[in-house]
Amino acid sequence: MCKQLESDDSYTITTMKVERIYLLFYGISLISACVNAFDPVTTTVAMGIGATLGTIYKYFQESCTPKWIVFNATGLDVDLEKRLFGQHIATRIISKAVNGFLNNDNPKKPLVLSLHGWTGTGKNFVSKMIAENFYKEGMDSSFVHVFTSELHFPHASQIETYKSQLQQWIKGNVTNCPQSMFIFDEMDKMHPGLIDSIKPYLDYYDKLDGVSYRKAIFIFLSNAGGESITQTALEFWKAGRNREEIELADLENKLTLSVFNNKKSGLWHTSLIDKNLVDFFVPFLPLEYKHVVQCALAEMEARDLEPDMSVADQVARDLMYFPKSERVFSVTGCKTIVSKLDYYV
Ligand SMILES: Nc1ncnc2c1ncn2[C@@H]1O[C@H](COP(=O)(O)OP(=O)(O)OP(=O)(O)O)[C@@H](O)[C@H]1O
Ligand SMILES: *[C@@H]1O[C@H](CO)[C@@H](O)[C@H](O)[C@H]1NC(C)=O
Ligand SMILES: *[C@@H]1O[C@H](CO)[C@@H](O)[C@H](O)[C@H]1NC(C)=O
Ligand SMILES: [Mg+2]
Repeated sequence: MCKQLESDDSYTITTMKVERIYLLFYGISLISACVNAFDPVTTTVAMGIGATLGTIYKYFQESCTPKWIVFNATGLDVDLEKRLFGQHIATRIISKAVNGFLNNDNPKKPLVLSLHGWTGTGKNFVSKMIAENFYKEGMDSSFVHVFTSELHFPHASQIETYKSQLQQWIKGNVTNCPQSMFIFDEMDKMHPGLIDSIKPYLDYYDKLDGVSYRKAIFIFLSNAGGESITQTALEFWKAGRNREEIELADLENKLTLSVFNNKKSGLWHTSLIDKNLVDFFVPFLPLEYKHVVQCALAEMEARDLEPDMSVADQVARDLMYFPKSERVFSVTGCKTIVSKLDYYV
């Protein structure tokens, strides 16, 4: 066993991942235990190395400190402007909301964003951008938590268990790190009772059970309201008006109404809306042919390929568009571009 552990020495610190350092740390400690009986000098040296590696491990280990959690406002704005296509309203709201919240040292409540829109229009994509410009580790951060109803809360019969579990998770994680981020994907498939159970955390409380939730970020993602957004976008298109002329006010009333009146969407049952717990409703417009082309070109660039317009066109042409007669909006948004591109290049 001692022999086997010595081979761990071949790791170099610069290329090491945290887990490996951790293993090595243990390895050295065990070696020191092995040689203990024979040579006190070696033992001391080994323990010294062990302690040093322990420090290095702590250095690489993510912690709830400004070293790991620092908001890059420029980074977020650049990402929204350059990498998110066709979402002028979402870009503006997200930038304003996140900047306002993270530049406020003493927010009165956690930030609650509700992202709505057609499939493949960038809701998860934007959540990722926010995480990447706030946590050094981005979506891999141990302070970012993603919940998917179908994955985490699949059985309606176990709703009571899920409720208390979710409350404990939120409480535990915010206790560990006030600047935690919770992303609820497929919010429209979430059991209404579950949404109700997180309401207290979204509200204007100084503290609940001694824990303050005011620095946390909650992001809800759903397709709820997507059809009413699409309807408005189509009306503008039919009237020959520029997509960029669509304003939040053109969507907002219809959006809250359609979310509110949709019996299938969990939001309907809850007072998230009438209690004003959601700070910003963020509509995502359905994407057009030209945006799909942009997505394809961006994906080529991300793969270090020479951006090829004819390939991008080919990819965009092969998608389906709706409504059937006008063929304006991509049925799957930009969602299938990644796999489609594998096929063409
Ligand atoms: N507006 C956009 N600008 C640039 N890329 C986009 C945009 N929308 C989608 N994409 C690309 O498509 C991928 C899938 O999009 P995303 O997962 O964000 O869709 P979504 O809105 O969450 O859809 P769903 O409602 O089906 O979950 C993204 O990772 C991104 O590469
Ligand atoms: C913030 O983002 C910008 C733009 O992406 C980048 O150039 C810069 O290095 C980032 N700053 C930090 C401190 O990471
Ligand atoms: C934090 O949340 C995760 C789920 O993302 C959960 O598994 C974990 O137990 C929570 N931590 C605490 C301390 O509650
Ligand atoms: Mg999504």
